[in-house]
This record gives sequence, structure tokens and C-alpha cells, in this order.
Amino acid sequence: TRRIRIGDLRAAKDRGEKWAMLTSYDQYTAGLFDAAGIPVLLVGDSAANNVFGHDSTLPITVDELLPIVRAVVRSTRHALVVGDLPFGSYEEGPTQAIRTAVRFMKETGCHAVKLEGGVRVAEQIAAIVRAGVPVMGHIGFTPQREHQLGGYKVQGRGDQADEVLADARAVAEAGAFSVVLEMVPGEVAQRVTKELAIPTIGIGAGVGADAQVLVWQDLAGLRGGAAPRFVKRYADLAGELTTAVRAFAAEVRDGAFPGPEHTF
Ligand code: KIV
Ligand code: NA
Repeated sequence: TRRIRIGDLRAAKDRGEKWAMLTSYDQYTAGLFDAAGIPVLLVGDSAANNVFGHDSTLPITVDELLPIVRAVVRSTRHALVVGDLPFGSYEEGPTQAIRTAVRFMKETGCHAVKLEGGVRVAEQIAAIVRAGVPVMGHIGFTPQREHQLGGYKVQGRGDQADEVLADARAVAEAGAFSVVLEMVPGEVAQRVTKELAIPTIGIGAGVGADAQVLVWQDLAGLRGGAAPRFVKRYADLAGELTTAVRAFAAEVRDGAFPGPEHTF
């Protein structure tokens, strides 16, 4: 079967079919998720936290993220691959935003880009779309603005719901093909999803969105420590890997590995 296109996602919304998006930052997960039928893979700037060991997404650069996007694109056959524009790579205005988006498309072969913000980046979204590059929006809590927003907080509670709606409308009117809703009340996500013709992708936004996204290490239990409330762990990879490497080390210590079957 062929590569997923943005029109397929719109058609899924029209049919009322929900779908799952995952992050990926390497060839093995990209290949596995692609083969498992995940239609959209996001090479998030969350690689800052999940690959490079930073404690926020702010430090990752375009030059660091591009080779990772390239690896994910090369390792997929069906999934639509979205490259996430890092903090600092589009804020200056439409010209900078187009330049960065074009680098992602030319240097990685990805199929779309994502950037954070609503009303305040509508010009950038429109400019990138005019350049021929599909854009995924991202509103609600936007991690690149962590310090402006005063930490990881639900956005759009009470009176602030109208701001989330205004951002959603701005992103859609600017021509985005979909929009991530991060940490907004379920009711607000449902209103946005009903109002917009483009698919909404929730993370901490309840069951009302058209699609859901999680960071793969979170859903697979690879990351240690406390996870946000919106994460569900479907596996314990941290436990599995720890057991495996302990067994390897123990067998090396007592001479059980390598055996004759591993020896030339
Ligand atoms: O970078 C990322 O992982 C994201 C998703 C959580 C939407 O932006
Ligand atoms: Na991101």
C-alpha cells in the first residue's frame, strides 16, 4: 500500500475514524511503528528530552534534529512523517519559517512540519503552506513556551477556553492540515474538534479528539520516573531491558556467555 497523505487524514475524520500518532527518533522504532500501521510518525523536538538528555525541548537545534528525521523517513514505507520545528527556528517571521521548513523537506524527505502556537504564528503557518509544505499546528500547552506559561499547566480552563478556540481557528484558517491539542480540558478539545474540519490530535486532551499522540518511550515504559497524568503505559521496556542487561552481565561474570554455539 501507498504512503499516507494529508487527504487520507481528513477523510478519516469525515468517516469518524480515530487514529494514533507516535513519536519516533530512530530506524528500529520507525520501522516497527510503520509496520504496525501507525499512520503518522512525529519526529518531535521532544528528541531533546528523549534522545539528547536535556530536561526541556528548548535546547535542540535544527542541525541536531534533521539527521534523526532523515533516519525515520528512510525507515518507513507508509507513515506520513512530520518534522517538528525547534524553538528559535520560526519565531522571527514567515521568511525564517519558510527557510526552516524548506530545509526539513529538502534535507530529510519528511512529508510535513509542525510548529507551536496559534494566533501568534498564523502568518508563519500560512507562509509555509503557501510554499507547498503541509503544516501540523500545535496549541494548548506548548512546551517551547514553558517559561512564558509558568510551567507544565493545562491551558484553556474556564474563561481561557475562548483563547484555545481562537488559536484553533487561526491555525485552521492559516491552512494547517491538522492540529495537536496538548493539555486542554476534554470539553474544550471536543468543541475544537467539532468546529474544525481538520483533524485534531490530542495529548492530555481527552477522548474527544480525532486522533491521539504519545511519546513512544512514555507509552512503552522506557522512561523512568513519574509520567504525566495523560500517559498510559502499555509496556515495561525499562524493566525488560534491565532484566536483559543484568542477565547478560551475570552470564559474562560466571562464564555462561558466550557458549560454544556463539563461538567460531
Ligand atoms: O515533540 C513532541 O513529542 C510533540 C508531541 C508530544 C505532540 O510535540
Ligand atoms: Na514538540
